[in-house]
Amino acid sequence: MAVERIGVSLGGPLLEEFDRLVASEGFPSRSEALRELIRRALVRRRREAGGKVVGTITIVYRHDVGMVTHRILHRQHDFMGSIRATAHTHLGEETCLEVLIVEGEMRQVEDLASRLRTLKGVLFAESVVARPDLP
Ligand code: NI
Ligand code: NI
Repeated sequence: MAVERIGVSLGGPLLEEFDRLVASEGFPSRSEALRELIRRALVRRRREAGGKVVGTITIVYRHDVGMVTHRILHRQHDFMGSIRATAHTHLGEETCLEVLIVEGEMRQVEDLASRLRTLKGVLFAESVVARPDLP
C-alpha cells in the first residue's frame, strides 16, 4: 500500500481542541487520530447512503413479558440471511441481554433493529455497524 504524506493546516482553537482529543482518547499520534476520524466519517456515510455493513445489534428485554422470547426468535428467523451469530446472557430474574452479530445491507440491519425495538418487553435495541471493507 502506497502511503502519501498530506499536509493539514490547523490552527487556533481547532488545533487545541484536536490535541486535547488526541490526548484524552489516548491516540498515539495526531496521524492515528485523523485516520480514525476519517474512518468514522466513512462509516457514517455508509450508514446514510446504504450498502454492506457488519456489526452488532444489542437487545435488552424482559423475558417474562407476553411472548417476547418467541417473537424475538421469529424476527431473527425473518432476517436469518443477515445474522451470523447470537449470544445470550441472563442479567437477572427477568432481564436478558442478547447480542446479534450481523452482516448485510444497512437497510436490513436497521429494519431488524427497529423491528426488535418495537416488540413489547424489549427495553433496548441498538445497532453498531462498521464497513467490512474499511480502508
Ligand atoms: Ni432459530
Ligand atoms: Ni435470559
